[in-house]
Amino acid sequence: MFAMEIDGLAQVGSPSFPDTVIETHRLGKYYPGAAKGSGVWAVRFASLRVFAGDITVLMGPSGSGKTTLLCMLGGLLKPTEGFLYVCGEDIGRCGEERRRRFRREKIGFVFQNFNLLASLTAAENVGVALSLRGRDPGEAMAYLEHVGLADKADFLPDQLSGGQRQRVAIARAIAGEPPMILADEPTAALDAEHGREAMGLLRRMAHERGTAVVVVTHDPRVRDFADRVLEMEDGRLHKIVRRYRLIAGRRHKISAGTGEIGEESGRISDAGT
Ligand SMILES: Nc1ncnc2c1ncn2[C@@H]1O[C@H](COP(=O)(O)OP(=O)(O)OP(=O)(O)O)[C@@H](O)[C@H]1O
Ligand SMILES: [Mg+2]
Repeated sequence: MFAMEIDGLAQVGSPSFPDTVIETHRLGKYYPGAAKGSGVWAVRFASLRVFAGDITVLMGPSGSGKTTLLCMLGGLLKPTEGFLYVCGEDIGRCGEERRRRFRREKIGFVFQNFNLLASLTAAENVGVALSLRGRDPGEAMAYLEHVGLADKADFLPDQLSGGQRQRVAIARAIAGEPPMILADEPTAALDAEHGREAMGLLRRMAHERGTAVVVVTHDPRVRDFADRVLEMEDGRLHKIVRRYRLIAGRRHKISAGTGEIGEESGRISDAGT
């Protein structure tokens, strides 16, 4: 369904050997408070891997550190401690200029509050992302079509509904097919049907294009689209569940109740899986 090609991604997403795109070891973020000793560790001891071609869903209660972790994975926030390697690069400790380039080239981000540019139309918002990724902004229309918004291309964000804005934000994130898409509550403003469509689109990016997709959500319906589920509580990752088994390079869904769900969970602290 995607008309445009992405350089080199076909090999990245080889299904029989899913490549590790993100790897963290005991990653942590501390927000200092105004008064001495009043700071919080929003994320602590987070060891995980994210694979090309997978949809990884990060769940947990409000305030458990999901956005903070996602922002670190996307190079938007500098970790306080631990290691963060993305595509083999030490993103946790590199300088701001390098991190900015990394975000531009590698990450499509869907923000919790959309972050669309208010003075630009839907097509221009998507076009800016394409330009930053070295692509033709004229391709914006194709991405708006993917989210069913071609007829709103010339509308400004404040002329769109919340759900429509969210879909523009998704179009912007997938524009130019970056190797990683990080999405914070991408279905929060969508009705059931559009939520399914948005997740279906992200799933196609992952399974057909080899994109590494990480979705933060409260929405239990999103879980159905997950290849792996990471659960957070109080800043800690406490469970990692893989929901498929690779047999001869093909994904086979592991159904609940077979005793296989949760097989990765025991390895969180050792292997950082
Ligand atoms: N900039 C900040 N300064 C200080 N504390 C912060 C900051 N951002 C987040 N926190 C704190 O870090 C913790 C984790 O916040 P975070 O936004 O990562 O949670 P979340 O799981 O994304 O929650 P939600 O589901 O409500 O979006 C919270 O206790 C929050 O108050
Ligand atoms: Mg959040």
